Amino acid sequence: MTDRYAVIGNPIAHSKSPRIHALFAELTAQDMRYEAILAPADGFAAAARAFLDAGGRGMNVTVPFKLAAHALADTRSSRAEAAGAVNTLIFSPAGIHGDNTDGAGLVADLTRNLATPLAGRRILLLGAGGAARGALLPLLAQQPAHLHLANRTADKARALRTAFAARAGVCRLQAGGFDALAGQQFDLVINATAASLADEAPPLPDGLYAPDSLAYDMMYGRETPFLIAARAQGAARLADGLGMLVEQAAESFFLWRGVRPPTAPVLARLREK
Ligand code: ATR
Repeated sequence: MTDRYAVIGNPIAHSKSPRIHALFAELTAQDMRYEAILAPADGFAAAARAFLDAGGRGMNVTVPFKLAAHALADTRSSRAEAAGAVNTLIFSPAGIHGDNTDGAGLVADLTRNLATPLAGRRILLLGAGGAARGALLPLLAQQPAHLHLANRTADKARALRTAFAARAGVCRLQAGGFDALAGQQFDLVINATAASLADEAPPLPDGLYAPDSLAYDMMYGRETPFLIAARAQGAARLADGLGMLVEQAAESFFLWRGVRPPTAPVLARLREK
């Protein structure tokens, strides 16, 4: 019988996940089907359980249900615990297991697709919400020399720093508001804020981008105000989050199927449009 998977969210109509996983399944000859499920805002758990009862093997979880998925899971991976959110559910007779592949997807996109090693580098992570939190542990695991958390509400960045201080290892982990960034330089600046949704860019001082630096926006689909500003401020390279989307999907696919799908051809196909 064909194994069933799904992505669940609200809204869900524009999700690229069904297309990505269909391509993965084709490229790896896996007998599976992957659909999109729209759940009502207050109906995540019921919809997820209904899919499980109908024989579903696993789910991807997207906005706004990643915290609800964390709560639904019987067991969770350490990276899901660190992120405080779950984007991948694995259904088995033993119960519902929750994982989070977003941060691993980001790191895979940076290090492999964008050939940007992170060890010893200076990273600026913008934002202190769920997206930033999910990226923190996988970024720290790459052992950057310096990781600076900057957020509009500086106290939220400082709280995140406190929560992860014990896991910083060799990395100098700092936090504050945007105005405290003046005079610093970074090799990589990652936008994990929701500013792009409001067609805004975090207000960053000039002089932030080191030579050869990369500006990375977790958003995709259009050139965001953050990327436009980064180009004007001297970032050497710009990247959107489409590669992260494909890489987090590949990591989920691997958790479910035990097979690593090739991501480069899938990313190329998505970029064709
Ligand atoms: P997500 O799960 O996408 O991270 P979130 O948890 O709601 O969403 O967090 C949104 C993040 O984007 C926060 O860091 C928020 O800053 P505040 O903590 O100060 O609210 C940031 N953000 C949202 N709109 C922004 C804007 N216009 N400029 C700068 N930062 C913004």
